Amino acid sequence: MNTDETVRTFTDFYRDRGHRLITGSSLLPPPPDPVLFTTSGMHPLTPHLLGRPHPQGRRLTNVQRCLRTTDLDEVGDSTHLTVFEMLGSWSLGDYGHSQSLRWGYELLRDGFGIPPEWLHVTVFGGDGQVGPDTESLRTWQELGLPVELTEDENWWSNGPVGPCGPDSEIFFWTGDPGTPPQGTPTTDPRWVEIWNHVNMRYHRHEDGSLELLPRPGIDTGMGLERLVTVLQGQRSVYDTDVFEPWLRLLLPLWDLDERPMRLVCDHLRSSIVVIGDGVRPSNTGRGYVLRRLIRRLLTTLRRDDLSRTLTDLPLELIGHTLDHFRQSYDPGTVRELLLDEELRFTKLLERGQRVLSRPEFKGPLSEDDYHYLHDTHGLPRDLVAGLLTTG
Ligand code: SER
Repeated sequence: MNTDETVRTFTDFYRDRGHRLITGSSLLPPPPDPVLFTTSGMHPLTPHLLGRPHPQGRRLTNVQRCLRTTDLDEVGDSTHLTVFEMLGSWSLGDYGHSQSLRWGYELLRDGFGIPPEWLHVTVFGGDGQVGPDTESLRTWQELGLPVELTEDENWWSNGPVGPCGPDSEIFFWTGDPGTPPQGTPTTDPRWVEIWNHVNMRYHRHEDGSLELLPRPGIDTGMGLERLVTVLQGQRSVYDTDVFEPWLRLLLPLWDLDERPMRLVCDHLRSSIVVIGDGVRPSNTGRGYVLRRLIRRLLTTLRRDDLSRTLTDLPLELIGHTLDHFRQSYDPGTVRELLLDEELRFTKLLERGQRVLSRPEFKGPLSEDDYHYLHDTHGLPRDLVAGLLTTG
């Protein structure tokens, strides 16, 4: 099943069960949300999980694009992406946790064809403040799946205050399919978490106290690219159809090793999506995140061959990305923006090299030097540091 079919299977399943597909899944959270980018599927729904009615009703589903800069150093491994998508389902004070788990199991088994023996679940076992989640435990036992009880791993919150509650996580066995699964999610890393069902029952206040929400909700989230990786039996997200055109077209063009190639693909794809949502490179806020992504990928791209340039980036990859994220943007315009930014970066690097070759900048730089280079020559600290290490 390819990525588009996976998405359709998910949203159709929930639509058939009375859920409305949320329209709009931009990376930019609507004001007054102070966060630069949407970081999870439930992020835009936080006020509604706390009780505000949602205009589309009490049963919702969505494919939400998300951006995380917290994992940037991980990008290039098998699983981390800067921009990714979350499949989500929500009950805003409608059905309860048991129903959510039953549907989750049905979709994985019948919709995605996952053999039940490759699944394991975890459930909140209770702590000093809240008792064990016996409803979920009973539900999974009735469904016949192996259950592990944990404490911290099965309590979901998005920070010290706000909506929170016990969750139940579903894991998929990624070991050798020829031999039976072993161990449990906390004892064997070959159990990979694919789906989290949160029983959003509480609001945690500043003093740490928990208040029961008047209308408890259910929030589920499943990372699309991770799901597709396991469904397609691959070891890495870069081996799935999500990145198939990227590697097919870029490998013959830029002869990079595996990890730098993955970073270049991830950052380029992320930059296209961010531009598609209306962001432009700049020195502050969202635009600065975009600028840094482009500069990081250019630095990696040119590390051992200065002739590599985005001028060679196939337009087809931009179009493929915009189509996938349902962004109605002209690929040629995105390309122009990327090329403008590349030119600006190239000029900045040339200026940086010229300035840093002056005798007063031989030796270690002081804080005053960094300020001078930034304020007078527009050279950011990380760029100066990069130029000093590469010579
Ligand atoms: N809020 C849960 C998570 O982020 C499920 O959406 O995992």
